[in-house]
Amino acid sequence: MDTTIIAVSNHKGGVGKTTSVVNIGAGLALIGYKVLLIDMDPQANMTQSFGINKAKVSVYEVLKGEAEVETVEVFENLEILPSTLDLSGAEMELINEAGREYILAEAINDVAKKYDYVFIDCPPSLGLLTINALTAANEVYIPLQAHYLAIKGLTKIIEVIGKVKKRLNKKIEITGVFVTQFDKRKVLHRDVVDTIYTYFQEKLFDTKIRENIALAEAPSQGMDIFHYDAQSKGAEDYKKLCKEIIERHLDDADEDEQEENSKED
Ligand SMILES: Nc1ncnc2c1ncn2[C@@H]1O[C@H](COP(=O)(O)OP(=O)(O)OP(=O)(O)O)[C@@H](O)[C@H]1O
Ligand SMILES: [Mg+2]
Repeated sequence: MDTTIIAVSNHKGGVGKTTSVVNIGAGLALIGYKVLLIDMDPQANMTQSFGINKAKVSVYEVLKGEAEVETVEVFENLEILPSTLDLSGAEMELINEAGREYILAEAINDVAKKYDYVFIDCPPSLGLLTINALTAANEVYIPLQAHYLAIKGLTKIIEVIGKVKKRLNKKIEITGVFVTQFDKRKVLHRDVVDTIYTYFQEKLFDTKIRENIALAEAPSQGMDIFHYDAQSKGAEDYKKLCKEIIERHLDDADEDEQEENSKED
């Protein structure tokens, strides 16, 4: 299997980017896929979610060219490249660097091959850190909350992804959108999901991540949802989402193979 590199991005804050990267990553690793998670957010929430406070190498040193990628193993099949607060200075410090949008892509080019999936947790902004993530990835997932304004801000990110595709990374494509913090009892939430579907069609995952307190509690224990509470709704939902992600990539692999075969005919 080729490595799939997915940037999880939405410049709106608090929509569930980090929670999703942590739990999709853990879910896929528990199924047996080799997974790397990269924390591109200076808030370092993903790093802290796994209880990692001090690592030898963080994304910051890698972007600055001061170190090679060195990952931290969380458990079997799951590794992370952590972040630190220093990363908040990186956008300014790299402003005059030639090819500054390609630094992450170049740095992970070789290491990424060791994994089935690489997920990049983006900060809630569309600056150089997010651009680096979009340039390094082949796919983008956008988590959305079921609010009226969920779609409204999206023109901006779609525009940025379009520019990255044109100028920096032809491969990049929004391939997945999912709803987080969903409450099916709220009519509003159901209406908004219909609107999101009209907009994104088959890119919208069937799985909705429900509001679930265990998902908010797990990080304070340095755990993903499967280790924190395997019986929770959160664990159930992220497991379902992982299955959908795998199915989509198996379907894609089938299509690629068929294309190859028809070329040979
Ligand atoms: N399905 C859920 N149910 C309940 N709480 C959730 C759920 N998903 C996320 N949360 C909580 O909501 C808050 C925001 O989630 P998260 O940090 O994943 O969002 P984010 O998009 O990464 O935020 P930021 O933009 O700041 O990086 C966190 O406190 C998290 O624990
Ligand atoms: Mg986050």
